[in-house]
Amino acid sequence: MFLTREEERMLDGEKGPAVQKFMKLLVGLGDILGAERLIPVSSVHVSGISIFTVGDAGVEFLSHLSETAKFAVAPTTNPAAFSPEKVPGSMPRALVEKQLSIVRAFEKMGATLTLTCTPYYTVNRPSPGKIVAWAESSAAIYANSVLGAYTNRESSLTALASAITGRTLLYGLRIEENRRPTHLIRLGFKVRSYFAASLLGFYVGMKLGESVPYFENLIAHDDLLKSLGAALATSSACTLFYHKGSILKTKALKTSTLEKICIEERDIMREDYPFSIGVHDSPDKVILGCPHLSLRELRKLCASTKGKKARSDVEVVCCTSSQVYKEARREGIVSKLLKSGVKIEVDCCPTFIPPEYAGARTICTDSCKLAYYASKKYEVYLADRASIVKSFFR
Ligand code: F3S
Repeated sequence: MFLTREEERMLDGEKGPAVQKFMKLLVGLGDILGAERLIPVSSVHVSGISIFTVGDAGVEFLSHLSETAKFAVAPTTNPAAFSPEKVPGSMPRALVEKQLSIVRAFEKMGATLTLTCTPYYTVNRPSPGKIVAWAESSAAIYANSVLGAYTNRESSLTALASAITGRTLLYGLRIEENRRPTHLIRLGFKVRSYFAASLLGFYVGMKLGESVPYFENLIAHDDLLKSLGAALATSSACTLFYHKGSILKTKALKTSTLEKICIEERDIMREDYPFSIGVHDSPDKVILGCPHLSLRELRKLCASTKGKKARSDVEVVCCTSSQVYKEARREGIVSKLLKSGVKIEVDCCPTFIPPEYAGARTICTDSCKLAYYASKKYEVYLADRASIVKSFFR
């Protein structure tokens, strides 16, 4: 792989052991993947923040790394297991300490602690054409498909490598010809809810695997695209999709030669998903916000629960970022939602919290991503937001 003089010096250890270690990682991977060279990144988003995803080995590795490493490009960070500002009493002190030391390690290296899977609602919203290195599959697919940035689906380690070296590999979806659509999807129905967008993404991912689908007649706003992309990236390795009205106006959009697939609404309502479809009468918890809710979603939820109160036997939780929470509070949305009995949690990912700490066994959500991962430990029901409000608010 071609390296510039500066990159060679980084590889030789002139910029310290941490830069050298991560340059070795990138160069080794680049050789395996056939990358021609490295390119500078303008934005990085790192995952692997929650103690429930990185474990003890992650705590040790990050604490050690933070002794010597500084980020060349300050990354935004994925959610933790809980907000460092609001430590839950249900978690053992040892776990809390481990989570806090992960957050402190990222802070020490110079990260911007957004603690959200939707960095694009915060300070990290790259403009079209920018080369970025984003981990977190739902964020990477959004960066490519909605923002028009250029990223592969980075792992926690490769995103960390990019933040420390300021470089990423030129391969995969950073190369124009690999961004061409591979399949044309013709929908026989309108996608109106987050639930439908999520199920559609999950279904297409299951059917096509790694692909670049073009949803020929899908007209959807950013929040629906966020739901669709998160689910698509859950059931497949897909990290880019096109839709009608996409900002990705490239010569790649030649669709006449693509394999066509027609999808009806009944196709996506399959019975072989690892979760159930429909509202459970009495789940322990309703969780909305995987990926984290936008301000627009909070506004809509506030409007639909106006004058209503959540059932006392069901805990209704919304997850969002601190930044969106602050904006929602300024608009008076937070106080209204709280009055309706909705709990709002920030900085955290509810999906991987073990049931013994979540205080729940049965969950209802409208996110296929949450439903898929949580179904390994919980009984999960997937329903649309309107039905959730109708069933759990009086
Ligand atoms: Fe975000 Fe966790 Fe879902 S990181 S996308 S809330 S699985």
